Amino acid sequence: MNFYVMTLFPDMVEQGLNTSIIGRATEKGLLSIKAVDIRAFSEDKHKRVDDYPYGGGAGMVMAPDPVVKTCAYVKSLIPEERREKTKVVYLTPQGETFTQKKAEEWAKEEDLIFLCGHYEGIDERTLEMVVTDMVSAGDYVLTGGELPAMMMIDAVSRLVPGVLNNEASAEFESFQDNLLEYPQYTRPEEYEGRKVPEVLLSGHHANIEKWRREKSIERTLAARPDLLKDAVLSKKEKKYLDGLLEEKKRQEEASEASENTDRY
Ligand code: ADE
Repeated sequence: MNFYVMTLFPDMVEQGLNTSIIGRATEKGLLSIKAVDIRAFSEDKHKRVDDYPYGGGAGMVMAPDPVVKTCAYVKSLIPEERREKTKVVYLTPQGETFTQKKAEEWAKEEDLIFLCGHYEGIDERTLEMVVTDMVSAGDYVLTGGELPAMMMIDAVSRLVPGVLNNEASAEFESFQDNLLEYPQYTRPEEYEGRKVPEVLLSGHHANIEKWRREKSIERTLAARPDLLKDAVLSKKEKKYLDGLLEEKKRQEEASEASENTDRY
């Protein structure tokens, strides 16, 4: 899979993605990551890429021409038959939030182009002319789109066949069945008085699987209850969740009651 990143900081992107699993996958030829410097396409004699906003206001806006020219160059690197359908993703807090589902969708693409903004944003006409998707890393504002692009490239890359050594591990993890991952342990069996749960030492695979699913459900309820509405649960697991929910309700009522008695 080929990633292209249009950015004012190409070194940041390339260096950030040349280590560990993604670096090895690039060396193996499973991925290619090319960061293209938008400034190189500025025709201004000082290589400026930003200008004052029409209508006034704080900050600077990225001018359309260098970005449009960078995009034309990047597209020229993509074989003609794939050029039209290649997504151009603009990273912005105004886009739809990136999710595992989006990563899975993008992992099916052959090429993906990211556009990283800086300053107060990019001239709207650029977005109309070259961008196909607007995606956010989350509800917070960063100084630029590079970190979100790198994060998304990482999330997509690990789903590309062959990138992870252990083929199975992309499946058995967070967001499998919309549940968070269960806790993991390795040696020693006891560390500073903390023991590995007995069931994991039992060798009883069915019990281990049951325990892991229950822990996943508990964790999801505690940290991300919003995921549970789309979780894939067996009848027994649904019952287990109902039990946890009842217990949670009882505890909330008890703490409310004790607050009330405290007040009087
Ligand atoms: N650029 C600045 N903040 C961002 C965010 N939250 N997501 C994507 N791109 C951004």
